[in-house]
Amino acid sequence: MRVVLLSGSPRPEGNTFQVVEECASVIREQGLDAEVISLAGMKIESCTACRRCAKEGNCVLDDGLAGIIDRIRDAEGFIVASPVYFGTARGDVMAALQRNGMVSMSTSRFLSWKVGGPIAVARRGGHTAAIQEMLMFFFINNMIVPGSTYWNMLFGKEPGEVWKDVEGITTVRLFSENVARLIRKIA
Ligand SMILES: Cc1cc2nc3c(=O)[nH]c(=O)nc-3n(C[C@H](O)[C@H](O)[C@H](O)COP(=O)(O)O)c2cc1C
Repeated sequence: MRVVLLSGSPRPEGNTFQVVEECASVIREQGLDAEVISLAGMKIESCTACRRCAKEGNCVLDDGLAGIIDRIRDAEGFIVASPVYFGTARGDVMAALQRNGMVSMSTSRFLSWKVGGPIAVARRGGHTAAIQEMLMFFFINNMIVPGSTYWNMLFGKEPGEVWKDVEGITTVRLFSENVARLIRKIA
């Protein structure tokens, strides 16, 4: 059983990536596989509404996302973490989610019953709007989102600052543990 964790920051070693690595280690401690995928270095195009995914079985845009969608398709869990940009999730992250959702809806609805949820990382504000944006993807795709003891939001600006947010780290560690436990129960 495997969970894909998508880091949506363009900074390869940024706070978002470090948080995702921590979540992956919690999932591994729970006995599941965790696969971290980063959008750093990629340029994710927005859905063009071509609808070719219905015929081809995956997105036809040639920017590398189709391979990520394949990894998610075969996993039991999916966690996405985004930096907050101007009060919302990063554009590339939403583009990736929207295209992933369109492929799932246009084919076998493979996202159904995957367990996971969103995480937002920001210097100061906009986490809750970003989380709500990303939750729209999970809830329209028949996915299961466990809770934690707070919302999945973390504070940090320069890479590594996020570790000072002890409550944020504790929150997403428990969330990740819950994702793994729920996947085991469903199995
Ligand atoms: C274009 C841009 C917009 C940003 N907008 C916000 C914002 O609205 N609220 C905030 O608290 N931080 C904002 N930030 C700061 C980032 O969220 C913060 O640096 C975060 O750590 C980035 O994650 P990363 O380290 O994984 O790249 C912004 C940064 C950039 C580059």
